Order: sequence, then structure tokens, then C-alpha cells
Amino acid sequence: MPLVHSADMLNHAYRHNYAVGAFGVVNLDFLEGVMQAAENCRAPVIINLIEAHFTHYDFELLMPSVLTAARRAKIPVAIHLDHGISIESAQRGIQAGCNGVMVDTSLLPLDENLKLTREVVAMAHSCGVAVEGELGYVPETAEEGVETNPEGLAYTLPAEARAMVERTGIDSLAVSIGTVHGRMKGTPKLDFTRLAKVSEAAGIPLVIHGGTGLSDDQCRKLIAYGVAKINYYTALSETAAEYIKTHATPDRKSYKAITGGVRSAIREEVERCIHAWGSSGRAAEVLEQCRPWREVEHVVMYNAPEPLSANAIDLMTRQGRETLAAIPGVRRVLAGTVANGNGKYCWLVRLASPVVIESFNQHPKQAQFAKYLSQHGTLERAALNFELRE
Ligand code: 13P
Repeated sequence: MPLVHSADMLNHAYRHNYAVGAFGVVNLDFLEGVMQAAENCRAPVIINLIEAHFTHYDFELLMPSVLTAARRAKIPVAIHLDHGISIESAQRGIQAGCNGVMVDTSLLPLDENLKLTREVVAMAHSCGVAVEGELGYVPETAEEGVETNPEGLAYTLPAEARAMVERTGIDSLAVSIGTVHGRMKGTPKLDFTRLAKVSEAAGIPLVIHGGTGLSDDQCRKLIAYGVAKINYYTALSETAAEYIKTHATPDRKSYKAITGGVRSAIREEVERCIHAWGSSGRAAEVLEQCRPWREVEHVVMYNAPEPLSANAIDLMTRQGRETLAAIPGVRRVLAGTVANGNGKYCWLVRLASPVVIESFNQHPKQAQFAKYLSQHGTLERAALNFELRE
């Protein structure tokens, strides 16, 4: 149950002047360290999955652990796809379990950025999922651990921020006001005057990318100007690497001996951030005031006039999986036959949220599959949607 709507979580932070940490995780040490820190501090937290890291780990393999961690948590959790490269990435993120997405189109000319962001919003909102847009360019590190220069920064313009909010329907806005991804050479210089104007023009929760290297004072000021989410990854990665380097001594022979304390090192760094950003102790209010995130099980039972052959069942199952799984907001499709019930077939389609029921029912692929099924004769059909409670 502690999975909550990410837009609600950010709006709570925005209204109460604190920022939720969106911590980039790349393995179980990161995930467990972040979750333990949030539990210890009674803080809402966002698990950030950054698409550029998917070459380092298997996204679909890590996500069930992220979902399990979120579901068994006692603090509110949201799961975010960060820097998706396309609308397909956003759909994949939602399918795997994210309830907030960001597709980074900030390098495109404004009109194209708005157009693509609008398309992402239409798809994600049809799944009940919140969208973060980005305006201006926050530079990337070419390589992890490489210091970045603030060159090439394109700052967010207040007028463009207003246009983006009005024309796309985004739920939060990532801004460029002087931060960079990775560790910057020297102390970042932030343009707070610009931030104040962008915040006023946008009127929605703002997001800071490139949290690494910001001072506590800078973070407090960012929050005072409407920042409700701070993305943080490089410092966690450095913390883990530093721990491993100092513990990889000749007397330690095993992987566990060398890496065993990484999780605690991550936890300590995340706890420091949570305290600095004011989210500590907010869990209870957030749980009380935010909508719990609930998936839906769409259950369909068919009664065929004639029992189908094993081959026909296999084909129908494959067709159904391929067709229905391509609908935005569908998380998994299972098909089966009723045990000892000749001619009775059952489908379980897991939907990301109750909002998907309507878009799923109206989707052309749903009609396409129904037509395919009708080739097997007139099927008696019963369907129910179960809202799942944890
Ligand atoms: P840092 O790596 O600088 O902490 O930034 C992370 C980030 O912004 C991910 O989107």
C-alpha cells in the first residue's frame, strides 16, 4: 500500500516547503540503502530509475525488487522513470511499475519539446501516471565520475515555463538554473532570481536535476522557490565506489567482505539528504493525504462452444499476450484454462491503475483481439475489474 500517486506526493512537498529526494538506484545495495534511510527518517521517497543506466543493469529484472520494496515499506514511495529517451521508454517504464515518468526532450526546439511532451502526457495520464517535463538543458556527464563544466547550460525561461505547463498538462517541471548532472568543478552558481520567476510562471512543483554538490543552504533556498523534488545519484555512486576502494584490501578475499557495507554507506548519505531537504518525519501526513496507488486485475472468463485444441490455446495465448501487452498501462497478461473445465478459458490482465480500465476497453488492440477470439465461435464472456489492495 505505501506506493502513492507521485503527483500527490510532490504536491504535498510543494505546499509544505520541503523536497522529496529522487534517488537513482542501480542495484539492490542502492535500493535497500535508500529504503532503509527513508524508513529511519519516516520520509516519503522516490526511487529513480535512469534510462541511461539500463545498459548497466536489467531494468525488468530490478523492477520487481523495487515494487516489492515499495509495497512492504511503511513510508510512502513513488517510482519514477528518469530521462526516458522516447514515448516508448515511458510506456515501458509504466509497464514495469513506474508511476511517474520523464521523457527528456529538452534538447529539442521549444515547439517540438512541447509537442512530444504533450504526447507523453496524453499516454501517461491515460494510465493515471504523472509526467515531469523539462525546459532548458542540464548538461550530462560524459562518463560517471568525470567532473562537468557548467558550459553549454541553457537556462529555463519563465515565459516558456508557463507555455509548457499550459500547453502540455505536465505535473512537475525540471528546470535549468545552474545545476549539472554529475559533480561540477567548483561550487555550482544558481540563478535564484530566474528560479523565482520560473516558479511564479509555472505554478507547479519544480524539479532539480543534478543534486550532487549542492550545499544545504542552496537546497533550502531552492525549496523556498518551489522545488519539490531533488534528483540525486552521482554522490551515491561515489559513496559506493569509495567504500569499495577502501575495503578492497589484500586481506579481504570475498565479494561480501569488500562490498558488505555499501548499503549502510548509501543509507547514511541518503539520510543526510533527507534531513537537509526537510522530508524527514513527513511520512504519516503524506500517507494520510495522498491517494494510494492501486493496480487493477482485469479478469475475463470465456466459455467456448467447443473445447479448443492445445495448439489453438497456445496460439490464442501468444496472440493475446502480444496484442494486449502493447496497450499503454497493461503490466502483464496471463492466460490459462480452467482446471478440469473443458472449453473454459481465463485471462488475467494487470492494469497499472483504475484509470487504465477505460483506455484499455477503448483501445483498438482490444477490439483486434476480440475479433481474433470470435474466430473460435461465439464465446460466452464474463469480465470483472478488481482493484487490488495490498
Ligand atoms: P546527480 O547525478 O548530479 O546527483 O543528478 C542526478 C540526476 O539529476 C538524475 O536525473
